Amino acid sequence: MTVTETATAALEVDGVTAGYGGVPAIRDMNVSVRPGEILALLGPNGAGKTTTLLTCVGALVPMSGSVRALGSPIDKRIERNARRGVTLVPDNRGVFHKLTVADNLRLARRKGRTSLDTTLDHFPKLRSLMNRRCGLLSGGEQQMLALAKALLTDPKVLLVDEMSLGLAPIAVQGLLPTLRAIADDHNMAIVLVEQHIDLALSIADSAMVLHHGRVALSSSAADLRQNRESVEAAYFGLPAK
Ligand SMILES: Nc1ncnc2c1ncn2[C@@H]1O[C@H](COP(=O)(O)OP(=O)(O)O)[C@@H](O)[C@H]1O
Ligand SMILES: [Mg+2]
Repeated sequence: MTVTETATAALEVDGVTAGYGGVPAIRDMNVSVRPGEILALLGPNGAGKTTTLLTCVGALVPMSGSVRALGSPIDKRIERNARRGVTLVPDNRGVFHKLTVADNLRLARRKGRTSLDTTLDHFPKLRSLMNRRCGLLSGGEQQMLALAKALLTDPKVLLVDEMSLGLAPIAVQGLLPTLRAIADDHNMAIVLVEQHIDLALSIADSAMVLHHGRVALSSSAADLRQNRESVEAAYFGLPAK
């Protein structure tokens, strides 16, 4: 990594090995995301995508290597990282099903600069659902709410884990351009774990394919859109042609 990249990265994972109970699930991971950039993190089930995100927010402490965000090392206390603007949207969405949309949003509010109005401008559909209990929303609407809640915490680095889990591709198709707009409007660094490869590559700036806890392929999204077969190969752990 060059000095210039180091200076401008919002999130920087450097040679990280991390896992569970002393067993590595990701090895020698390197990730760098600049403000306003979307990195798509791709790979089959069990490849280490969620583990990578958990390490980035400080929920897992690396066995070796380091994670830095916004110019300083990631703390062991997740809340501290969240306060600094490093926010994870987990794949279970982290919404409260028994509460209304309005109450879910109220709980997420902090003294951040991102107002509820600005947030709802990104998710206009939520305006008409404010009094609905979250458990009655569609999967796509719940995902909108999860993203809106995250946005209210004023993130500078946003990590989104498999928002398409259980969603129809059409719902994902609607949400991804919103994430692109959020990255652009707020100069936010976003790491997006996604199973829909083409949709992810259509809005990302860069992409990585993980396989068995290692980076099998890493390039610009434009490059990978042109070389889809290399993405498929990396999914199976095959070397790029
Ligand atoms: N809590 C856990 N305890 C032990 N092993 C885990 C745990 N969570 C994930 N793993 C293992 O770590 C590896 C990577 O998992 P994960 O990061 O969840 O993959 P992905 O998100 O790409 O599907 C898998 O082999 C998985 O079984
Ligand atoms: Mg996962």
